[in-house]
Amino acid sequence: MTAKKEWLAIADEALTKAYVPYSHFPVGACLVTEAGQTYQGVNIENASYGLTNCAERTAIFKAVSEGERDFQHLVIAGNTPEPISPCGACRQVMAEFCAPDMPVTLVGEHGVTKETTVSELLPYAFTEKDL
Ligand code: THU
Repeated sequence: MTAKKEWLAIADEALTKAYVPYSHFPVGACLVTEAGQTYQGVNIENASYGLTNCAERTAIFKAVSEGERDFQHLVIAGNTPEPISPCGACRQVMAEFCAPDMPVTLVGEHGVTKETTVSELLPYAFTEKDL
C-alpha cells in the first residue's frame, strides 16, 4: 500500500520540530499502527553527538512505549535531493518491530519518494529467530 497523503504530511510537518542544532539536518517520520493511529518522530541531537536519536527511532520508541506493537507503514522525510536513506541503526530497529514486508516510504525535498520495505532496507536481518 502506498502512503496516504495524511501520513506524508505528518512526516513533512515533523521536519519543523526536529532538534538539530549541530547537523542542521532535520528528519521527520510518521509511523502508522495497524489500527491507523499515527506516531510522529523527529531527530533529537545532543552536544554529546553520539547520543542523537534518529527520527524513525523516535517514532518507533514513542509508539512502543505506548503499548503499540502492530504497524502497517513508516514514512521518513528529509530535505535531501533524493529520498532519504535511513541509517543502519534505524533499519535494525525497524526489523525488530515491523514485519519484513511492511512498506516504508522514503521522501526527499519536493516530495520525491521511493517505496521500499523493511526487508529490502535490511536483508538477512539479525532478529529474535537468530537467538
Ligand atoms: N538521521 C535521522 O534522523 N535518520 C536517519 O535515518 C539518518 C540520520 C539524523 C541523525 C542526525 O541528527 C542527522 O540526521 C545527521 O546525521
